[in-house]
Amino acid sequence: MRIKREDIKILYDESTLRKRIKELGKEITEFYKDKTDVIYAVCVLKGSIHFFSELVLHIDLDVIYSFVHVTSYSGTNSTGRIKVKSWMEEEMENKYVLLVEDVVDTGLTLKYILRYLRRYRPKDIRIAALAEKKVHDHGINVDFAGYELDDKFLLGYGLDYNEIFRNLPYLGYIEPNSGG
Ligand code: IMP
Ligand code: MG
Repeated sequence: MRIKREDIKILYDESTLRKRIKELGKEITEFYKDKTDVIYAVCVLKGSIHFFSELVLHIDLDVIYSFVHVTSYSGTNSTGRIKVKSWMEEEMENKYVLLVEDVVDTGLTLKYILRYLRRYRPKDIRIAALAEKKVHDHGINVDFAGYELDDKFLLGYGLDYNEIFRNLPYLGYIEPNSGG
């Protein structure tokens, strides 16, 4: 399949995304503020880069940044095989950890990360996702979800099709049969 920019429809524009992410930041602040002054936010690269950077600006606590880079997609489909490209170095024992993911689809990526993260014995792990697709029974409890969506292929605002379109300033989608 080849996707052209003209095929991409806007789902949420930049200012709509910013507003929603700001609300999530407030929700997250409220959730933690009686529990801890500092959280460890883990950005799941590459797709979460813009969501993460906007979200942490609206969390009114000390936020320590961590990054993991994992891949599972090829084209518009999850391959089901997770590859770890790089992993966090921070000590997480007894810490409050917030995993920040772009989209939860099959849930395989987060399940994989969670399995390894638990070995560090954090005190608590929560999940924030810009979007949660409701097609698969992914079994992940998304604590802070920006949007709940049906089965659309999303692009932009960090999300790619074979590494292209991550820098679109909006969250877009393509109709299942467009592109050809
Ligand atoms: P999961 O492992 O199936 O939950 O998929 C999660 C990962 O696949 C996310 O981290 C995304 O980077 C990527 N992904 C899932 N859905 C989409 C999409 O609609 N567009 C682009 N990437 C996606
Ligand atoms: Mg991702």
